[in-house]
Amino acid sequence: METVVSGIRPTGNLHLGNYFGAVKSFLQMQNEYNCYFFIADWHSLTTRPKPENIIKSTQTILAEYLACGIDPEKATIYIQSDVKEVLELYLYLNMNAYLGEMERCTTFKEKARKQPDNVNAGLLTYPTLMAADILIHRGVKVPVGKDQEQNMEMTRKFARRFNTVYETEIFPEPASFSLAAKALKVPGLDGSGKMGKSEGNCIYLMDDTETIRKKVMKAVTDSGPIAPNSEKPEVIKNLFTFLDLVSTKDTYAYFNEKWNDCSIRYGDLKKQIALDIAAFNAPIRERIKEYSSNTDLLDKIAKSGADKARESATKTLKEVREIIGFRF
Ligand code: ADP
Ligand code: TRP
Repeated sequence: METVVSGIRPTGNLHLGNYFGAVKSFLQMQNEYNCYFFIADWHSLTTRPKPENIIKSTQTILAEYLACGIDPEKATIYIQSDVKEVLELYLYLNMNAYLGEMERCTTFKEKARKQPDNVNAGLLTYPTLMAADILIHRGVKVPVGKDQEQNMEMTRKFARRFNTVYETEIFPEPASFSLAAKALKVPGLDGSGKMGKSEGNCIYLMDDTETIRKKVMKAVTDSGPIAPNSEKPEVIKNLFTFLDLVSTKDTYAYFNEKWNDCSIRYGDLKKQIALDIAAFNAPIRERIKEYSSNTDLLDKIAKSGADKARESATKTLKEVREIIGFRF
């Protein structure tokens, strides 16, 4: 069975971008593949979070994974920092990663720009740690959103390079996986291209009906269609993306027709989107609350996941050490 690996950093609650960009694929894949879904707490250290925030966010993401339907009986769910084997592979991959290529990564450049006072080596080697996460289980499919394309490109490069340097075939070259034909980018409702925590424009799975309504009603629009059947501008396309994600096909068709015959009222469209997001969130929200209050269960799941992940990691690492020449 093919192996799937993916992780999300514990930097707050999961939002609709995380859900539709990544978690929704996890749900499908856990039925068909050997899945490892983890919480990337080491990766979150690039921004120096407070210890109490790490603990809280890690618990939150774990509860949210479960509330979304990731099933510890089907997939291995674990916390990255429980599997120290990853760090050893990270070190080996770093020995074959070049400063120039790491500095050229747009993700690095962007993050360096955002935190000019803390351009640390962890930020620079973010892609080798991510590659280690994936290659430690010899993952071949990685469900991630579009924003992770470059990190995935780097992972393939490091896998290839290791194989070439040591004349081995130990690492497969993993591919990004998306449920849609094209990797999905959930937009922001503020006219920005992407919903993201650092953009401050998220609708969280934990948001209640009123919070969602307020956020959606504030969504940026334009002054309306000027001619029948015209192309939708970006901000309107964004609203339709939400309809596509959370509403029925009929609702989508209804508003699309209203757009095409120029009778659309953005207020109605937004109300509908808010209602449909709220209905989507409601059961997940209830389950998040239940799981969050059961920390014993969360601990148990994390521990059993770590044991399974460590077993797989140890196997890979044993081979890697031999290949490298640590045989004494
Ligand atoms: P954030 O952007 O909120 O910081 P992360 O970078 O931690 O979220 O992303 C976790 C996962 O969710 C990744 O697989 C990422 O590709 C996906 N993701 C995040 N935002 C979006 C989005 N707006 N559209 C699609 N996928 C997304
Ligand atoms: N870089 C991913 C993000 O920012 C998180 C991540 C870390 C990840 N390691 C991974 C995703 C391995 C997939 C596979 O969202």
